[in-house]
Amino acid sequence: MSTHPQHAVTADPDVERFAAIDDLVWFDDMGWEEVVSHARAVPHRWAVTAAGGDDGSPYRGIAGAFEMELTVPGAPGAEPTQLPVSGLTWVGVHPDHRRTGVLTTLMDAHLSWCREQGLALAALHASDVTIYGRFGYAVASTAGEISLGHGATFDAPGVSTEGITTSMHDLSDEHVLARVHAAHRALAAGRVGSVTRTLELATRVYTDPASRLRGTERRRVVIAARDGRDVGYAILRRRPKWEDGRSAATLDCDEWAWADSAAQLALARRLTSVDLVTRTSVRVTADDALLWWCGGPRTVVHKTGDELWLRVLDLPAALPARGWSADCDVVLEVRDGLFEDQAGRWRVTARDGRAEVTRTDDPADLGLDVGVLGATYLGGRRLAALARQGLVEVHDPAALRALDTALATPTLPVPPVSF
Ligand SMILES: CC(C)(COP(=O)(O)OP(=O)(O)OC[C@H]1O[C@@H](n2cnc3c(N)ncnc32)[C@H](O)[C@@H]1OP(=O)(O)O)[C@@H](O)C(=O)NCCC(=O)NCCS
Repeated sequence: MSTHPQHAVTADPDVERFAAIDDLVWFDDMGWEEVVSHARAVPHRWAVTAAGGDDGSPYRGIAGAFEMELTVPGAPGAEPTQLPVSGLTWVGVHPDHRRTGVLTTLMDAHLSWCREQGLALAALHASDVTIYGRFGYAVASTAGEISLGHGATFDAPGVSTEGITTSMHDLSDEHVLARVHAAHRALAAGRVGSVTRTLELATRVYTDPASRLRGTERRRVVIAARDGRDVGYAILRRRPKWEDGRSAATLDCDEWAWADSAAQLALARRLTSVDLVTRTSVRVTADDALLWWCGGPRTVVHKTGDELWLRVLDLPAALPARGWSADCDVVLEVRDGLFEDQAGRWRVTARDGRAEVTRTDDPADLGLDVGVLGATYLGGRRLAALARQGLVEVHDPAALRALDTALATPTLPVPPVSF
């Protein structure tokens, strides 16, 4: 990766100076003590200083990373697999040092460190779509926010919620948080696209100090249970509003997960029947059952966005780590502008749900940037669609069809929790 001679990176930054850059870049309404406390809880931190030595002036840029597990497709008939990934976060560049290569220096530090740790993948949420493609990241999952009216009816033939109970709790109660965290870990393991987070991060994300409520109540959670087991949860906040003497309150669900369709339906019914709430927003994938239970996409306000971005860092380890839907035998010519050892020709042979990846000198069937592998890794984007976009050079159309089918998954990846 190109290094910028005027910058140096420290992997042991001073927490207060690290926090100061976050405070400056994100101009949030978090109090200073809280920013510092959050910064301290980021397990891996990097900061950029002047190359000549740290003179104590403000850091030029910062980045952090969480340790997470990403749920990736399993082989047909098998459970999904969880892989360790590094979740990049806390990226910020001092306004006086923008566009001088600070981010590039941080990305070099983070991605190289990930490879030293033996990680096959890195992940992030992006604040802007233009930033991370140049570093080999690509959007691997998308989701839409839909808005449902109070008392929305769901036509879900064949899905029975009998035996499921739902209950609403205050998420600032530590026992509730621990229960939701346990449900998060258990449900994430079965839902491709999920990332897990630690209880400490969950506590920080979901317990809101009064200063950060921005006109909403503090977070609550609806838990769905069956036979004494938690089978779903939905984290929510209501925003009170009165118009002409009537409530026009709204409810936002920023995270929900379920074990099966019945649990999702029970949660959806509960979220759309909360007293005084006129509209409820939840996030769904394009193939979500809820979109059809409520009458089809045209019946809901639908806003789609990118969710998880993925970067393949160890190609011969990453591709065999996921399940494959069909057999294939194709040669890829991979371009990787940052890690030359991943570039070049690879033979990908999938048999009975598992793949092997080996170096080859055989002519390439398909040519692509490493980002295409991240985009298709979770089954959230189809290789054939990326080829239509012009992102795959197709020397053999049969190879494109075979690899497209082999990478496809029965369901789209779910949106990950925020980190
Ligand atoms: C986005 C941000 C991190 C970029 O940092 P930076 O140090 O200016 O980036 P670099 O100088 O390393 O730029 C690398 C390349 O990316 C481009 N680039 C970086 N950010 C870009 C943006 N937002 N839009 C378009 N291009 C961008 C640069 O032009 C440069 O291109 P080049 O190599 O062709 O010259 C910085 O502007 C920032 O802190 N923004 C606010 C916080 C934020 O959005 N953080 C990201 C959190 S996900």
